[in-house]
Amino acid sequence: MLDSLNRYSSSSNNVVDFMVTTIPGLEDIVFEEAREKINVLDVIPRFGDVGGRVLLRVPRNQCDKVFTLRSIEHIIELVGTFKVGSDKNGLDQIYSGVYSFDIPLGSTFRVTCERVGSHKYTSIDVQRIAGQALVDKYGRRVNLKNPETIVRVDVAYDLCIVGLQKTRTSLRIRYPRMFQHYSALNPIIAYAMLRIAGVRSGDRVLDPFCGGGTIIIEAAQAWSGLELIGVDISPKSIEGAWMNAEAAGVRDKVNFIVGDARRLERVLSRGWRADKVVSNLPFGIRSGRLKVIPPMYTDFLKSVRQFLNEDSKVCLLTLHNSLLKSIAEDLGYKVIGSRWILQGGLKTWIMLLSP
Ligand SMILES: C[S@@+](CC[C@H](N)C(=O)[O-])C[C@H]1O[C@@H](n2cnc3c(N)ncnc32)[C@H](O)[C@@H]1O
Repeated sequence: MLDSLNRYSSSSNNVVDFMVTTIPGLEDIVFEEAREKINVLDVIPRFGDVGGRVLLRVPRNQCDKVFTLRSIEHIIELVGTFKVGSDKNGLDQIYSGVYSFDIPLGSTFRVTCERVGSHKYTSIDVQRIAGQALVDKYGRRVNLKNPETIVRVDVAYDLCIVGLQKTRTSLRIRYPRMFQHYSALNPIIAYAMLRIAGVRSGDRVLDPFCGGGTIIIEAAQAWSGLELIGVDISPKSIEGAWMNAEAAGVRDKVNFIVGDARRLERVLSRGWRADKVVSNLPFGIRSGRLKVIPPMYTDFLKSVRQFLNEDSKVCLLTLHNSLLKSIAEDLGYKVIGSRWILQGGLKTWIMLLSP
C-alpha cells in the first residue's frame, strides 16, 4: 500500500498515479482486473476514503493499458494531494495548494470538483477558487464547454485531490445503444458480475432476464470462445438486444430468444447446460408490482436448475437480497457470495449461488 496520503506528490518519471472511478462496492474488481492486465506497482482501494475510487500506481510505459479496463468509468492522472479544512479557510488552502503544483495546462481549461463530506463551501466554490489559482499562475483561459484540459479538484473529507481528467465520457459507454431498455444495466456492473461468476473461455453463459442484452454483449466483448444466450419475455427487448449486439459488433457471437425465465424448458434444449447464469433480476419497482417478485424468483430458480451442472454458478443482481437468499436456500442452492453496490445511490445486491 502507498503509505502516505498527505501531500504525496505523485507521478515521477517512471511511474504514474491514476485515480480511477467505479461503482461503489466494486473497488476490488478494479484492483483484480488491473493486476491482471497491467503491472500495477501499488493500489489504494477507496482512495480518500471514498467508495468507487481506486488509486493505481503504474509504470509510465503501461499507462495506455489503464484505458482498456472494463471495470472503470473515469481516469484521473493524479497531480498531488494536500490536507484541507472544512471551514471557509479551506478555500484559501485550496487556492495555495493548487497554485503550488506544476499542472500542464492546455490553452484552455475547466476545473471540475466532486466533494464528499461536510464543508462550509460548495463544489462550485472549489471550482471557482481553484480556477482562479490556475488563471493567476498560468494566465490560461477558462472554457467550460470544450476545454483542452479538465483539471479535477476533488475534496474528500479533509483531503484535496488534484489531477488531470483523462476521460471525456465515461468508459461505461462501450457502443451506441440502438435500443435503450428502460432498466438498462451499467456495463461496468455487467462486467463485474461476469467476473464474480468466474466466467472463462469456453463457458456457456445464460442471462434469462436479458432486457436489451447488456450482460450477454459485455461477455461477448470481454471474453472469447463463449456460448451466449439471452432470454427475455418481451419481444421488444429481444429485438432491441439484437440491435445493440449489432452496434457492439458481436451479433454473430450471441443468441437472443423470446421466452419466460420461469419456463426455460420451453426455450432451451433439454440437454443444454449453462456453466454460468448471470442476470439482473426484475426489481418489481417500476411495474409497482412487488408481490409478483417472490413467485417469480421461486419459479425461475426452480426452472433454471435443470440447466445447471454441479459446478455451475448463478450470479444475480437484486434489490431484494434477503428474499432471494431465503428462496434460494429453501430450494437447496448455496449462497456462496454476496455484496452490495451503490447504483445511483440505490443499494443493490450481487449474489453468487451454486446449485
Ligand atoms: C432489470 S431488466 C433487465 C435489464 C437488462 N439487464 C439490460 O441491461 O437491458 C429485467 C428484464 O426481465 C424481463 N422479464 C420480466 N419477467 C420475465 C420473465 N418471466 N421471463 C423473462 N424475462 C422477464 C423484463 O422484460 C426486463 O427486460
